[in-house]
Amino acid sequence: MSSNVNSVANTLKIALILCAICSVVISGAAVILKPMQTANQILDRNKNILIAAGMFDPAVNSNADVASMFTRFNARIVDLDNGTFLSDEDAQRLGLDPLTYNETAARNDPALSDALTGEDDQARIRRRVKYATVYTIDNADGSFESVVLPVSGYGLWGIMYGYLALEGDGNTVQGIGFYDHKETPGLGGEISNPRWQAQWPGKQIYGADSDVAFEVVKGGGPGASQVDALSGATLTSRGVENMIAFWLGERGFGRFLNNEVKG
Ligand SMILES: Cc1cc2nc3c(=O)[nH]c(=O)nc-3n(C[C@H](O)[C@H](O)[C@H](O)COP(=O)(O)O)c2cc1C
Repeated sequence: MSSNVNSVANTLKIALILCAICSVVISGAAVILKPMQTANQILDRNKNILIAAGMFDPAVNSNADVASMFTRFNARIVDLDNGTFLSDEDAQRLGLDPLTYNETAARNDPALSDALTGEDDQARIRRRVKYATVYTIDNADGSFESVVLPVSGYGLWGIMYGYLALEGDGNTVQGIGFYDHKETPGLGGEISNPRWQAQWPGKQIYGADSDVAFEVVKGGGPGASQVDALSGATLTSRGVENMIAFWLGERGFGRFLNNEVKG
């Protein structure tokens, strides 16, 4: 009897039953937890938009404040090539809704993104979406109190994703927030440190010639368009500078800011 219990066939049977139970439990958990994960991702994204706009202070505010604070923002899709807000008709024709539009998926879709090569790929992101969601706080006269732009660029270890908030002049920085990156904690990972980010508000993206003048340089704190580079993380710092140059330039939001934001 006992030799039968320990037979190879029995061992395989028990292993198979265990595998089946485990896979049901794991896939069940994945399905059940998916809505929670999605809700947390949205919460984190919205919190970073608020942080970039200088509206959320992690020392004072909590996650419970995010939803009510975020109601001040309008999400709208921008056509990056035309440099205009996408009309409701065009958004409908393209099947894009600012509340559900997924830029990560669009980046891998040839119909919704373009490949970047050579000098065009300053931020080293390989593909650029044709449409991007921006978040605005609108004034009654059609101008903006705040314009928050999604930005991304390669650091040392991978693509850094964040939001850059600008004042209504389309030039003065309100703040920066990163919600995903692979940089080393304590080195490049300091891009998420509020003390480093505190240098950004008030800096000017564009110089007198209307080209992007913003720099991340060692000892660069005092300049109107400069922030100090991270020590021991020159490559991450350069990645941040290239990210801003790309996304605020012609292939990024440059045209949109000229057409729709700057007075
Ligand atoms: C384990 C390890 C992790 C590193 N992580 C980063 C990083 O996240 N960002 C970065 O720019 N440099 C990082 N570096 C350092 C780079 O290799 C390079 O030395 C540095 O960017 C040069 O910056 P510095 O001129 O300010 O010293 C790391 C180095 C090591 C050994």
